[in-house]
Amino acid sequence: MSNVAIRNLQIQLGGNKVIESLNLDVKAGEFVVLLGPSGCGKSTLLHSIAGLIDTSAGQIEIGGKDMTWADPKDRGIALVFQSYALYPTMNVEANMSFGLRINGTPKAEIARRVSRASDMLQLGPLLKRKPANLSGGQRQRVAIGRAIVREADVMLFDEPLSNLDAKLRTELRRELKQLHKQLGATMIYVTHDQVEAMTLAQRMAVMKGGVVQQFDTPDVIYNTPANLFVATFLGSPGMNLFKGELEQQGAKTIFTNEHLSVDVTGYPFKQPLTGKHACVLGVRPEDIDVGHSDGVDVSAAVRASVSLIEAMGAHRVVWLDFHGTQVAGIVQDQQQIETEKEISFSIRTNRISLFDGASEQRL
Ligand SMILES: Nc1ncnc2c1ncn2[C@@H]1O[C@H](COP(=O)(O)OP(=O)(O)O)[C@@H](O)[C@H]1O
Ligand SMILES: [Mg+2]
Repeated sequence: MSNVAIRNLQIQLGGNKVIESLNLDVKAGEFVVLLGPSGCGKSTLLHSIAGLIDTSAGQIEIGGKDMTWADPKDRGIALVFQSYALYPTMNVEANMSFGLRINGTPKAEIARRVSRASDMLQLGPLLKRKPANLSGGQRQRVAIGRAIVREADVMLFDEPLSNLDAKLRTELRRELKQLHKQLGATMIYVTHDQVEAMTLAQRMAVMKGGVVQQFDTPDVIYNTPANLFVATFLGSPGMNLFKGELEQQGAKTIFTNEHLSVDVTGYPFKQPLTGKHACVLGVRPEDIDVGHSDGVDVSAAVRASVSLIEAMGAHRVVWLDFHGTQVAGIVQDQQQIETEKEISFSIRTNRISLFDGASEQRL
C-alpha cells in the first residue's frame, strides 16, 4: 500500500493552466474519489499521477518517494480507463496477462495472478473469449482485471462505469467497493456522477476549474458544504437557496428576506457576525417539512402552493411555488397532497447551511 501526496501541482496544457497549485493527500489504502463537472481537470490530475502528463510545477509523491519525473512503469500504479482499451485480437486471458508477459513475469506467477483476478471478477468462464464477444460490463471487468493482475499499490480509475447502463453501473460499483476491501490497494477514482462518488468514496475531493473546493468524507461534504458550488453540485433535487440578510435582534440572529424570517441563533457560525450581512440560506429538500410542523427545530411555517408532485416510490418530491421561487421538499409520509392547493412548509433550522452573499463561502 502506498500513499499519494500532491504538492502545489500545476499543469499547463496547450497554454491553458488546467490545474493550479493543487494539494491532495491520499492515505495508504484509502479510496478517494475526484468529483466535479466535465472539464474541471479530473482526468488531467489522474493522468499526471500516472505519469502520462508532465507537470509544470509542484511535486507528486507515491509511497513516500518523489515520483514527479518517474517513468509511468516505475510508479507502482495501474490505470483503468472509461474506454476499455482491450486488444481486440487477444482473448480475455491474454488481455489480462499482456503487461505481465511483456515484463517477463514467470509463467506460474502469471497464471496465479490471472486466476485470482478472474475469480474476483467472475471472469473464469470467459477467459477464452475475444472482447468482441463480451458485453460492455464484461469488457470493463476485463479492463479492471488487467489492472488487478499488476498488483499495483495504487489503482487509478477514470470514469470506468460511464459507458455502462444504469443497472450494470450500480452492480459494478458494489463490486469495486468489495474489490477495494479485498485488495487493500490505494484507489483514486474519477467521476462526474455524485451518486457514484458518495457511495464509493471514503473521502472525496470536489473540484471546479482545476481547484479542489472541499476534501472530506461524503457525509461531511453533503451536510456541511464548504461553499455554494459544492452545496449545489451534490444532491438531487439540489439544495434550496434563499437570498437574504442576517441581522442581530437582541441575543438572536435572524435570517430575513421579503417573505421569510428564520431564527438561526443556534447556527454554528465559523466566526461571529456583526451588523447586517448579505447571505444565502441553503436547505436540502429532505429538511423542508411539508404540510405539518413536527414541532422540533422548525422555523415558523409559511404558505406556498403545490406546483408539482414527483412520485419516487419510497418518497415524493413536492415542488412548492413560494412567491415565484420553486422550493423542493421530500415527503416520506402518506399525507394527501394535491397540486395547485395551498400548503404550509417550514425549514428545519438545525439542518441549514449559510453562505456569505459575496464570497459564497460557508459562514
Ligand atoms: N491536450 C490539451 N490541450 C489543451 N487543453 C486541454 C488538453 N486536454 C485537456 N484540456 C483542457 O483541460 C481541461 C480539463 O480537462 P480534463 O482533465 O479532461 O477534464 P475532466 O476529466 O474533469 O472532464 C478542459 O478545459 C480541457 O479542455
Ligand atoms: Mg475526464
